[in-house]
Amino acid sequence: MVKPTYFLPTNFTLPEDTYKALNEDYHQTLLEPEEHIKNRYSIDVSSFYGPYKIRHPFGKASGQLSTNQAQVKSDLEGGLAFTVLKTVIAESEDHQSEMEAWKIKAPRMEVEKITSQNGEEGYTVTWKGRGWEKTLEEYLEFLEESLALAKNYPIIPSCKYHLPPLGEEYKVDEYIYTTQKIYQSWRKYREEELVLEKDFSATLAGTDLAGAKEQVLAWLTEVPAKIKEASDASIYLGVKLMNTMLPDEFQREMVKLLLGPDSNWLGDYAVCFNRLFDPNKGFAGKIGVAYGGYDLSDRNLWALEELLPNKPTRPISATGNICSGRLMLEYALRGAINGQLHTFFQLPQTEYAPIEGSRTQKAIHELLFNPSKGLVAGLLYIRDKLNKNQEPFSFIEVTKLNPNELNEVKR
Ligand SMILES: Cc1cc2nc3c(=O)[nH]c(=O)nc-3n(C[C@H](O)[C@H](O)[C@H](O)COP(=O)(O)O)c2cc1C
Repeated sequence: MVKPTYFLPTNFTLPEDTYKALNEDYHQTLLEPEEHIKNRYSIDVSSFYGPYKIRHPFGKASGQLSTNQAQVKSDLEGGLAFTVLKTVIAESEDHQSEMEAWKIKAPRMEVEKITSQNGEEGYTVTWKGRGWEKTLEEYLEFLEESLALAKNYPIIPSCKYHLPPLGEEYKVDEYIYTTQKIYQSWRKYREEELVLEKDFSATLAGTDLAGAKEQVLAWLTEVPAKIKEASDASIYLGVKLMNTMLPDEFQREMVKLLLGPDSNWLGDYAVCFNRLFDPNKGFAGKIGVAYGGYDLSDRNLWALEELLPNKPTRPISATGNICSGRLMLEYALRGAINGQLHTFFQLPQTEYAPIEGSRTQKAIHELLFNPSKGLVAGLLYIRDKLNKNQEPFSFIEVTKLNPNELNEVKR
């Protein structure tokens, strides 16, 4: 198993008075945490998601936690930075869908502890479902209800389109019909260009190894063009890249090809990377399920190191075991400007900050304020390492930093 270079220590050590202040904040509910962070520590945690400025880097990844308006509303009220909606399966005007097999009803999810091959304990969520199980029409209703909640809160639809075997034709009518429908719904509530994610999911990574590399590369390079050609809409397209079952080195090839300096790829940003796939693990009568934990973040961080000390030529939205501010910062040091979380929002409450509030509020508070592994502690630690004591400092600066400047800290 690959091992990334951690540029940051497991726990940040801070001067005593700073630690004390942070620990005090960790234990209290704050109405405007980002403002508080700016005032008390001269730290700006804001960032970007596509064309949007966001309050901090943490948002919700596409999945079972963004399938209805109530969930999106509680994200918004709980102080999340953005929400990516569950992935809908593209269909044509006559409601046919080549990817019909992705519409699976599977309500049961199991949150389990998982130890990585490198020996770190984290969590994974096991289930056997795939995409949005209902119709496109119902998805559009959900999208519109969500967009109607607030104008300035980023809500991103996600879609899975037809992926033909090599040499076969794409079902272009499904691309056209679905993209136009999503755009029409978007337009009712948004003036800016359509921000859309295309999901290449973990279950696709199980693709038979023979010819898999050629197949995956063909999809990754051809699909963005198909989506952009499918409507007159201006689309800011995010492509959620998969963790394939090909040798680890392929993940780095993918990064270099799509996100390296010579890339002419049509994806506007990349979500790196969807979950790993275990072809042998059984769950609820199905053999072969996706999983996460530190194996996932280890492989993702390692793959993104390919371009260091340079940064990817497209913005990165990180995903995979973001369970602390520290992990978010490790992704940021590889160029990620925000993080999409799923598993973290399903953990036992004891993993969150000890404050009153909703699950989302407590989770975000934990990610921001944990005094030894939270985002603010990490930013204070990095500022100190750079000898910028007390100067205003920001999360965005970290995304541009050469991590070698931090005098690599071995764990
Ligand atoms: C139960 C479950 C359902 C998911 N469904 C989707 C999905 O529909 N579309 C998608 O792009 N990713 C999906 N994912 C992947 C997540 O969006 C996320 O990228 C991944 O779980 C890694 O983040 P995490 O380690 O924080 O969970 C799902 C993940 C889980 C656990």
